[in-house]
Amino acid sequence: MIKKIYLDNNATTECNQEVLDTMIPYFKEQFGNPSSLYAFGKKVKEEIIKVRRNISTLINADIEEIIFTSSGSESNVTAIMSAVNQYPKKKHIITTKVEHASVLETMKYLEEKGYSITYLSVDSEGNIDLNELKSVITNDTLLISIMVANNEIGTIYPIKEIGKIAKQNNILFHVDAVQAIGKIKIDVKEMNIDTLSFSGHKINAPKGIGVLYVNKNINFKPLIFGHQENNRRGGTENVPYIIGLGKAIEMILEDNYEKNSKIAELRDYMESKIKENISDIRIYGNIENRMSNTSSIAFKGVGAEELLFVLESYNIFVSTGSACNSEIAEPSHVLVACNADLDNYSPIRISSSKDNTKEEIDYFLDKLIKSVKMLRNLKEKKNGK
Ligand SMILES: Cc1ncc(COP(=O)(O)O)c(C=O)c1O
Repeated sequence: MIKKIYLDNNATTECNQEVLDTMIPYFKEQFGNPSSLYAFGKKVKEEIIKVRRNISTLINADIEEIIFTSSGSESNVTAIMSAVNQYPKKKHIITTKVEHASVLETMKYLEEKGYSITYLSVDSEGNIDLNELKSVITNDTLLISIMVANNEIGTIYPIKEIGKIAKQNNILFHVDAVQAIGKIKIDVKEMNIDTLSFSGHKINAPKGIGVLYVNKNINFKPLIFGHQENNRRGGTENVPYIIGLGKAIEMILEDNYEKNSKIAELRDYMESKIKENISDIRIYGNIENRMSNTSSIAFKGVGAEELLFVLESYNIFVSTGSACNSEIAEPSHVLVACNADLDNYSPIRISSSKDNTKEEIDYFLDKLIKSVKMLRNLKEKKNGK
């Protein structure tokens, strides 16, 4: 059996071995509750403080502004509901059409509760228009919620400019950094971000651990009540996962975004080979301004799902859109918002990591070129050409 070639890192990443090794003692020897008064528990608390410190360094926050949650989704929902509870008299929120389901579903819920939500449109590359953003702000607007980078097409959003607009208008600003963390530099102070979320499983830490940054100057309201996290998120801390997340953050701090250029080089090499060898392709997203690891590519007439399964037979794993939507047969809301011609050009998403090698990409290219050719031939035969 050939080695697995995993190119779906925007869906989730493999837990790093060092991360895992760091976690293990916290299931056994160091299983104490960080809230305990005895030294055995306090030692764990100190280790958690180190993780908070590393996260604060990464995004330029203060230690007390970091809250641990169960996921990126929980962090997003908590931030949005906190904003709503902070301003009970205001009823308008601005977001985009291309946010993650955890944001969009919360907005849908709020609409049912009588809130008015503006979903900013995007152009064919997934970009928003800042003039549209400025034009929809009213005295009733309480929150702007926008992602740093899109999980499906990789397009990056102008967070600093949006932060400025939010601040000028006295509106809370929530940022979903789940895909961007570790790939794009984020400075919550410089970018005027009030709340920000990210998740462990996109950065080689385990699934089920998330972070919510909360600006200490806002009037935060918890979603889950309890004494932990300074009364901001109830539930005994998931110590091993927090420790694992801390290791993953440490690795990002050590690398200081240097691996991104290697990842981008490999992605550009892959795309240039695809262009050279396959006709009628389309690449989605903002080519000049997207995450270094993300490539959303369509091959005219080739169904993305068929291609995904043929590639799987070669032990290559890509996706057709966001992992969270893959069980739903509906077209991706992101590509629909980009007005993509999905009947002819339905894309696969290739999202690499620092661990992918040129050899793997060459193997992938070889199989991709053959698979597209085979699927196009089959289609021609079926159509009686
Ligand atoms: C942009 C974005 N936001 C939020 C999430 C949710 O994170 P989690 O899986 O930790 O709930 C995801 C996960 O795919 C994502 O891509």
